[in-house]
Amino acid sequence: MNAGFSAKVPACVAETCYEHEGVIVPNIMPLRALKRLRNFAVRPDDLFVVTYPKSGTTWAEHLMMLIRFNGNLNKLEGKHVLKLIPFLEHVKDLANPSTSALQIDRAERLKSPRILKSHCHPPFLPLDISTDDPKAKVLYVARNPKDTAVSLYHFCHYVGPMPSYESWDVFFEEYLAGRTPQGSWFDNVLPWWRRRNHPNVLFLKYEDMIKDLPTAVRQIAHFMGKSLSDDVIKRISRASTFKAMKNNPSSNPDSIISPAISRGNNQSFMRKGIIGDWKNYFTADQNRKFDELYEKKMAGTGLVMQFEAKAPFIPSLY
Ligand code: A3P
Repeated sequence: MNAGFSAKVPACVAETCYEHEGVIVPNIMPLRALKRLRNFAVRPDDLFVVTYPKSGTTWAEHLMMLIRFNGNLNKLEGKHVLKLIPFLEHVKDLANPSTSALQIDRAERLKSPRILKSHCHPPFLPLDISTDDPKAKVLYVARNPKDTAVSLYHFCHYVGPMPSYESWDVFFEEYLAGRTPQGSWFDNVLPWWRRRNHPNVLFLKYEDMIKDLPTAVRQIAHFMGKSLSDDVIKRISRASTFKAMKNNPSSNPDSIISPAISRGNNQSFMRKGIIGDWKNYFTADQNRKFDELYEKKMAGTGLVMQFEAKAPFIPSLY
C-alpha cells in the first residue's frame, strides 16, 4: 500500500494526490485550503457553483457571469471567467502548490455579491452550505457519470498536476472504486439531488443544458434574481454554446492554462462537449460493472441521468 493512502493507488496518484477523510485530493487542492474552506464565512448573498469535476462547471460559470452582466459580452473582454470566480480549494500557482497562495484568500476579500466555485463533497464544503438547509444559494450541475469519467480521464492527461493514468482501464477501475481525484461521483451528486427542492438550491443536469440551453439560462437567471428579456437570454445562449466558448479566449480555459501546466499534445479543455462519448471508451464488461454499481447507488433516489443524446442538437432553437 502507498504511504498515506488507505488502499493501493497507482503510482501517478501517489505522486500527485493525497487522501483526506477517504477522498483522493490533488495536491493543488492542499489540506490547508480544505481546512480554510470548511470554516469559510458564508455570506447570505453568496452564490456557489458546486459540481463533481468535468460536469460543465466552466459552462455554468460562463452563464452566471453573463447573466450577472445582463448579457453584455463586452464585460468579459480581456478577462477570463475562471479568473473572475475563485476556485475555493485551489492554490493560485499550480506549478508550486506547496508554497502558493490560496484562491480562498481572494474569495475572502471579494466584495459581495460573490460567485464562488467548489468541487468538494458536502463534508468538505463550508459548514453553512454543507447541510440540508444551505444558508446561501448553490447552483449544482450534474453530468452522467460515464461521460464525466471519460472527460476526467482526458483532463488528467491534459494538465500536469493531475495523475496521468497509464491507461483507460487503470483509470476505470479507480473511478469505479471512487478513488479518482475528488472521490466518488455518487457522494458528490446525491446530497444535492436530495436538496433539490430547497429554495437556495438549483439542481441542473448537463444533458438538459445541451438539449435546451435557453431554458437553463432562464432558470439560472431566475435563481440569481434576474429578470432578462428573451433577446438577452438568446444572446447569452448563443455566446455559451460549446463552439462559441471554445472560440472565445475569455471562456476557453486553454487560454489561461500555462505551458508549465499543460501537457500539450494538442489537447484542449474544451474537448467534445457531447452526450454519449463514453461508448467510445467503456468496454461491455466495464459498462456492466458500472451499471451494477449505478443501480445499487441510485436505487430509491429518483434521480435519472441521461446517457445518450436523444435528439440532434438544434442551434437554431436560439
Ligand atoms: P468534455 O471533456 O466531455 O468535452 P468542467 O468545466 O466541469 O471541467 O467540465 C468540462 C467539460 O464540459 C468538458 O467536457 C467540456 O468540453 C464541457 N463543456 C464546457 N463548455 C461546454 C459547453 N458550452 N457545452 C457543452 N459542453 C461544454
